[in-house]
Amino acid sequence: MKRSFASDNNSGIHPRILQAIVDVNNEGHCLAYGHDSYTVAALSKFRSLFGPDSETFFVMTGTGANVLALAAITRPYQAVICAESAHLNVDECGAPEKFTGCKLLTVQTSDGKITVPGIQNCMHGIDDPHHVQPRVISITQATECGTVYTKGEIREISKFACDHNLLLHMDGARFSNARAKFPQMAVRDLTFSPGVDVLSFGGTKNGMLFGEAVVFRNKELAKGFEFVRKQGMQLFSKMRFVAAQFNVFLSDFFMLESAMQANQMAQLLATKISPVKGVDITQKVEANAVFVKMPREVVTELLEIFDFYVWSENDPKNPEIRLMCSFDTVEADVSHFADCLSAIVAQLETDKITEQRRVLDGSLS
Ligand SMILES: Cc1ncc(COP(=O)(O)O)c(C=O)c1O
Repeated sequence: MKRSFASDNNSGIHPRILQAIVDVNNEGHCLAYGHDSYTVAALSKFRSLFGPDSETFFVMTGTGANVLALAAITRPYQAVICAESAHLNVDECGAPEKFTGCKLLTVQTSDGKITVPGIQNCMHGIDDPHHVQPRVISITQATECGTVYTKGEIREISKFACDHNLLLHMDGARFSNARAKFPQMAVRDLTFSPGVDVLSFGGTKNGMLFGEAVVFRNKELAKGFEFVRKQGMQLFSKMRFVAAQFNVFLSDFFMLESAMQANQMAQLLATKISPVKGVDITQKVEANAVFVKMPREVVTELLEIFDFYVWSENDPKNPEIRLMCSFDTVEADVSHFADCLSAIVAQLETDKITEQRRVLDGSLS
């Protein structure tokens, strides 16, 4: 079976999830728009995980979750502080700005994680009607650089948020991969306990067909969200097919084992490729992505064999690529990649030596 290292979005549906969809379908007709027993059961599971005061709403996409979560807690003259690399800022086609009216104030980071000093730089023009008013800090867990915030780091940001009348949003499209780094921790320990107010909770990247959840810390924050969701075109009529997936997904298997598989494969990939000459791992491997720089000619040849993204070309001779593992990446995929990489590097070295000899021989004759 073909495997891609481009994105966990490239993976298929986990067979257990697909089976859950088939099972619901076999039941025939059900009430629409979430008035069905699967949705009731899934929402109850979310309450058990996130606490009795939490309120959860299902949406279709990760972008929809982020944008609607922010729309629910902001006014158009406000601003959202996020990392420059945040999906919100880079990959959502301006939807957060269009649908919330808010300006995004970005913080430069070296590893995708924003910190209080970076946030502080965005805190200007407070109470001045000529300036947007910061209202939300958004962090991504796991980050777009494959790193993971610790509970302490989240708490520090949340403390700053509380002190400055800001709310804290977490883009958890890959929350399960982040959580799998701390398997002993409860889900709440990485979200609402350290002070997150609203979470975009991902399913698609870890084996679901579609469906994400917006989880609010409490009912007050969630007020009116059902209208925001409908107006935002994310109220799915056949909601039971999202709920049935979450009923299976909210288990240790998906939120730990399966996400851990992806993370472990990323670790293994980093371990296998880091000794190769010219290969430089650029980010800590804390979730399911490996960021790595290597000579352009190696990247070009690897792209003939594997799908992956060239992440940065700031250093044109040594581009940075992103290799992402999925719940269904296995050791053989990783070994195949590492073997091909080693073979390409060895062949290019041999070619270089042969060429040097040829030039030398030519200049001697
Ligand atoms: C961190 C992050 N947030 C949100 C999204 C949005 O997900 P979707 O493509 O379902 O809108 C993605 C998608 O890759 C992502 O990587």
